[in-house]
Amino acid sequence: MPEEALNIIDQRTKSSYEFPFFKGAIRAANLRQIKTGPEDFGVVSYDPAFLNTAACQSSITYIDGDKGILRYRGYPIEQLAEKCTFLEVAYLILNGELPTEVQLDNWVSDIKYHTMLHEKTKNFLTGFNHDAHPMGMFISTLAALSTLYPEARKVRDPEVRKLQIRRLIGKVPTIAAYTYRHSLGYPYVYPDNELSYTENFMNMLWRMVEPKYRPNPVVSRALDILFILHADHEQNCSANVMRAVGSAEADPYVATAAAAAALSGSLHGGANEEVLKMLDAIGSKDRVPAYIEKVKAGGVKLMGFGHRIYKNYDPRARIIKWAADQVFVATCRNPKLEIALELERVALEDEYFIKRKLYPNVDFYSGIIYQALGFKPDVFTVLFAIPRTVGWLAQWQEMLEDPEQKIARPRQIYTGYEARDFVPIGKRTAHPALAIR
Ligand code: SDX
Repeated sequence: MPEEALNIIDQRTKSSYEFPFFKGAIRAANLRQIKTGPEDFGVVSYDPAFLNTAACQSSITYIDGDKGILRYRGYPIEQLAEKCTFLEVAYLILNGELPTEVQLDNWVSDIKYHTMLHEKTKNFLTGFNHDAHPMGMFISTLAALSTLYPEARKVRDPEVRKLQIRRLIGKVPTIAAYTYRHSLGYPYVYPDNELSYTENFMNMLWRMVEPKYRPNPVVSRALDILFILHADHEQNCSANVMRAVGSAEADPYVATAAAAAALSGSLHGGANEEVLKMLDAIGSKDRVPAYIEKVKAGGVKLMGFGHRIYKNYDPRARIIKWAADQVFVATCRNPKLEIALELERVALEDEYFIKRKLYPNVDFYSGIIYQALGFKPDVFTVLFAIPRTVGWLAQWQEMLEDPEQKIARPRQIYTGYEARDFVPIGKRTAHPALAIR
């Protein structure tokens, strides 16, 4: 038996099987060889929520949850956050290498060329209430863009993909800014391509009647760092959605909208908004112990804490905490930071969190910065979605170029009724367990 193999004995048939390891994993399809007879479909693996299932091979992002390591294309997130711009990191994530100066200049020009939105987009937005949740507007407008670029359905054409990737990266800040201006009843601000990606985003958000927007350099750098930190995170929930929808060869606009819809969930990207609501509910440092007891009693989750992969401090949370101090110098210290710091201090000393390896994740401090920058909590997840669009597109592109991938269609373990005959309505009895109220 070769060393790199797993030997399984089926106690039902006393048959033994040998499955070679594949990069430290076993191919689940090989389990189908384990049968009790020719009629048997064979064994499938059962893994709700994919807790221990690799659905793809990827070279984009590497995470070591126990050591708190995060790398994009091999580069540590700490170095990228310190030394790069967001568009430079976007190029790296999508192309696999850091760009040369010429490549970066061309890349930035390509993205800036696509920051404008079709004027029809304003009509989409006009239909929303002023208090519509920004993620609902963002997701809907993203999907609506698919109606303006029908050629995007040619997902197997690399040149078509390349153009849509540039369009989406260029347009997501504009969509986000337009939803923000719509919610305030302000006129839309057109892109100013003399500004950087994040400076232009600030311009479209906050320029009022001044002829030229003058971005605060500390704020624009903090946003750039936040965008870098949120760009990709391997096979998270929304990346999984992007790959699944993309595997059906849907166009990248509706696939990105679907991924953004997953991100909007409070357990995923919606957590940063929930953290602020939690801090508001706690109200002051002295009420932290009582809240921690409520969490331990199972009543509520400590939002912004815990992670499927990180069983150590999320490296992004550490950098965000550093960025928060820079921002508070330029704006004003957010009083909620004191509550957050006390929550972290108490939680990290408490057996409940230590035993479950619950640490602050990317969402724990990001909302505090965003609020200090003047954003309302319901905009926070849109600020997550802008940079994560780069990661979703990189995962989508990698899936389409992977010869092993095909339309995603998992199996199930059926637990329903065996075959049974139709019952005329007059002979049916109410089913209390399934009663529709
Ligand atoms: C993001 O996947 C990614 O990479 C996501 C992300 C990205 O960049 O894409 O990193 C972004 O989504 C960050 C996570 C943001 N979500 C939150 O902050 C919401 C709060 N966190 C939890 O809901 C939870 O920690 C998850 C959803 C993040 C992870 O959940 P898991 O991996 O399914 O873990 P679990 O729910 O099985 O928890 C294990 C135990 C349970 O206790 P027991 O049943 O064993 O007694 O830990 C407890 C949970 O109840 N627990 C928490 C907790 N998180 C887990 N208890 C209190 N507060 C929490 N936050």
